[in-house]
Amino acid sequence: MNMNQAPEAVRFSSRLLNTTGREIQNSATLPLHTDEHVVGVRKVVREHALELKLSLVEQTKLVTAASELARNTIKYGGGGMVLAQMLSDGVRRGLRLVFADDGPGILDIEQALRDGFTSGGGLGLGLGGAKRLVDEFDIDSRGGEGTAVAIIKWKK
Ligand SMILES: Nc1ncnc2c1ncn2[C@@H]1O[C@H](COP(=O)(O)OP(=O)(O)OP(=O)(O)O)[C@@H](O)[C@H]1O
Ligand SMILES: [Mg+2]
Repeated sequence: MNMNQAPEAVRFSSRLLNTTGREIQNSATLPLHTDEHVVGVRKVVREHALELKLSLVEQTKLVTAASELARNTIKYGGGGMVLAQMLSDGVRRGLRLVFADDGPGILDIEQALRDGFTSGGGLGLGLGGAKRLVDEFDIDSRGGEGTAVAIIKWKK
């Protein structure tokens, strides 16, 4: 998928893509529409985690967070994509993932992050859980336009 076909959310979310003090070493996008795509994202994230030499525990945290966000993109966002970027801040390397869709948006982000809140009969643990599993977490969402969720995990 090239960036011109990327969900609007990626384009409006310049805050999530900021590179101040960070150099992007490489960038790839993967589609997110089906369960197979979730499997593919998990695989790619695991590979990046290995390349970063994350511990097994940190690898699993990152893959779990990515999996939850990928599922939300499909279930609530109606599908979209994930942008994966290897970053360097000069000292550390890390992986940034930006999940983006052109869905209905999240009108109340605070509520969506609360453990137990679900609008779709889930457990309501995905977003809050993902936030706790990574180093940086940010949501940009516009009603009727879409949602972008960015996470970063740094190799410490
Ligand atoms: N990409 C998205 N677009 C629109 N709404 C979203 C999106 N992602 C999450 N939400 C909203 O945030 C709520 C909370 O998401 P969260 O992942 O925490 O829980 P869940 O998906 O409902 O349940 P679980 O992930 O535990 O199975 C969702 O129920 C949905 O209302
Ligand atoms: Mg969820």
